[in-house]
Amino acid sequence: MDHAGYEKLSAQQCRDLPEECTHAAHCIIYAHNDDKLWGKFPLRAAVMMQVRFDGLLGFPGGLVDKGESWEQGLNRELQEEIALDLERFRVEEADHVGGYLRRKPRLRCYHCYVKQVSLQEFLSIETAAYGAPDYGSEVLGVMRVPLHTLEDGKGGLPAFLQNRFVGAARDQLLFALQTTGIMSGDDITSALCWDSS
Ligand code: GTP
Ligand code: MN
Ligand code: MN
Ligand code: MN
Ligand code: MN
Ligand code: MN
Repeated sequence: MDHAGYEKLSAQQCRDLPEECTHAAHCIIYAHNDDKLWGKFPLRAAVMMQVRFDGLLGFPGGLVDKGESWEQGLNRELQEEIALDLERFRVEEADHVGGYLRRKPRLRCYHCYVKQVSLQEFLSIETAAYGAPDYGSEVLGVMRVPLHTLEDGKGGLPAFLQNRFVGAARDQLLFALQTTGIMSGDDITSALCWDSS
C-alpha cells in the first residue's frame, strides 16, 4: 500500500475482484522517440498525459459505466477525451497491465492500460485530441511527459514529477516507464531526487 492508500494489483488480481467493486480505466499511450532535445538529451519516448478540469495531471480514460466491460468504458472515454480513432487504436484486453485498488469511500479499482504506437501514429493521435468532444472542458490540455533530465539534475522529469497528479496517475507513470523499458529503475530513482530531499 502506498502513501495515497492504493494497493497495486496484478492483472490477475483485478479479475478476482468482487462484484460490488466499481471500476475506472485509464490508458498510457506512448511511442519510442529517438530524437534528442538540442541534439543532446535523449527524449526516450512520447508519453501522453492531460491537464484535467480539476487542474491535476492524469491519463485519458475514466469511469466504467454499469454494463460496460473495462475496455468498452475505456475506449468510450478515449473517444470522448482525445477523439481516439477506435478503428485503428482500440485498446484491447491484452493492453491491461494491472490496477490500483482503493477501499474507501467505496471499493474501486483504477485499471491501467499501456498502448504502444509508432511516433508517427502518436502525432496523429495527439493532433486529433484537440478536436475531441471533451477538449476545452473536461480536458484542458494534451501533453507529453518530459523524460530527460537536464544537466542541473532537476530540469525535465524531476521537475515534472513535482506537479500534482490525480489518483494513482503518478505511480502509474513511474510503473509504466519501467515496465515498458523506456527507463531503467536507476534512471527513475535518480529522477525522484526531489522526493527524498
Ligand atoms: P466524467 O466523464 O466527468 O465522469 O469523468 P471520467 O469518467 O473521465 O473520470 P476520471 O477520468 O476523472 O476518472 C475517475 C476517477 O479516477 C477520478 O476521480 C480520479 O480519482 C481517478 N483518475 C483520474 N485519472 C486517473 C489516472 O490517470 N490514473 C488513475 N489511477 N486514476 C485516475
Ligand atoms: Mn528554442
Ligand atoms: Mn471523461
Ligand atoms: Mn477522464
Ligand atoms: Mn465519464
Ligand atoms: Mn465526461
